[in-house]
Amino acid sequence: MPIVRNKKIEVLFSADEIAQRNTELAEEIVLSELHDPLVISILKGSFVFAADLIRRLHKAGLSPEVEFISISSYGAGTTARKPVVLRDVESDVKGRDVLLIDDILESGGTLKYVCDLMYERGANKVATVALLDKPGKRKAKLEADHVGFECPDKFVVGYGMDVGHAFRELPFVGVVTGDA
Ligand code: IMP
Ligand code: MG
Repeated sequence: MPIVRNKKIEVLFSADEIAQRNTELAEEIVLSELHDPLVISILKGSFVFAADLIRRLHKAGLSPEVEFISISSYGAGTTARKPVVLRDVESDVKGRDVLLIDDILESGGTLKYVCDLMYERGANKVATVALLDKPGKRKAKLEADHVGFECPDKFVVGYGMDVGHAFRELPFVGVVTGDA
C-alpha cells in the first residue's frame, strides 16, 4: 500500500486503469458528435483528468478549444457548500457546444450549477464527463453523459483530487486509510 505524507493510501483506480478508461471515454466523446467543442475543465479537481483526456481526444481525432472555470464547493474540508465561481471562463459560450470535465460527481450540485450557467449564457449544447461517479450521494437531478468509473461512497484523493489541499499529485485515485 503506498505511503504518502505518512498516510497509508489504498489504491482504488490505478494509473493504468485510468489511462485505459480515458482512451475509451475519448472514443465515446468523439462519437457523441459535439460540433467544434469548447472543453471546460472544472478546477481544481479535474485538471489532471482534463490534461490526460484532451490528449486522448486529440488521438481520437478531436481538436477542442480548452477553457477553465474554478468552482469552490468544499473549501479546505470535506463538507459541501453552495458552488461559487472563483475564476470564470474567458470565452463566449453563446452558440457553442460545450463539454464540461469534472473529477467527481457526487451531489451533482457543482456540475448542475456550471451546466445551468452555460445554458443561461446561450450554449447550444452542454455535454458532461466525470471521471468518477458516486450515484448514492446524488441530490441534483443530473447524470453525466460520460463516466469513467463508479466510485464507492468514500472520500477519494489523487489524480487531481485533494483533501485539505494534499494528494493532488498522486498518479492514481485512492483513499486515505490511516497513519503509516
Ligand atoms: P458535488 O457538487 O457534490 O457533485 O461535488 C462535486 C465536487 O466535489 C467535485 O468536483 C470534487 O471537486 C468534490 N468532491 C466530491 N467528492 C470528493 C471526493 O471524494 N474527493 C475529493 N473531492 C471530492
Ligand atoms: Mg471539482
